[in-house]
Amino acid sequence: RDRAVEALTRLVRDIPDFPEPGIVFKDIAPLLADGAGFAAVISALADLGRDADGRPVVDKVVGMEARGFILAAPVAVELGVGFVPVRKAGKLPHETHRVAYALEYGEAVLELHQDAFTPGERVLVIDDVLATGGTARATCELIARCGARAVTFAVLMELGFLSGRAVLGDVPVEVLATV
Ligand code: PRP
Ligand code: MG
Repeated sequence: RDRAVEALTRLVRDIPDFPEPGIVFKDIAPLLADGAGFAAVISALADLGRDADGRPVVDKVVGMEARGFILAAPVAVELGVGFVPVRKAGKLPHETHRVAYALEYGEAVLELHQDAFTPGERVLVIDDVLATGGTARATCELIARCGARAVTFAVLMELGFLSGRAVLGDVPVEVLATV
């Protein structure tokens, strides 16, 4: 985990005024391009899905399109459990649940396949950044509609000044770094 925090500090760059004036974009591209840094954050996130004996405590890992995919899929492989994608509107081919949400910039709809989980499954949800919490909240609601339960919501970075975790209710939030 120390190595993950060090990698985040060193390899995530701030891009001012992207995608809009006044927004400071957290660009994880340099982190993903660094083999050791990428491995360190995947390992630290996977630890959040294990008990003290190293056994997985979740049945599925969910990642949100697009940057969540990059992190959640390797975490699922490391834990030895399945990966489930939450996608933006119109991308999933089978029957879906849909939830509209407000982004830090703009508004959108997220979808999840209705048959993505067995009822009662425990889910680790992973994304890169927690900002307003709109994406996270919509995702947890989608998981609940499918009869499963988000047991942990984990991100690399939380934008502390936006207090996004407040909208997540009783879902425990794990953050590698507050920026
Ligand atoms: C970004 C980021 C998070 C979300 C956080 O995704 O990757 O998913 O915003 O913001 P929130 O807490 O205010 O909802 P975005 O949809 O902008 O782009 P992406 O497709 O590159 O992940
Ligand atoms: Mg995203």
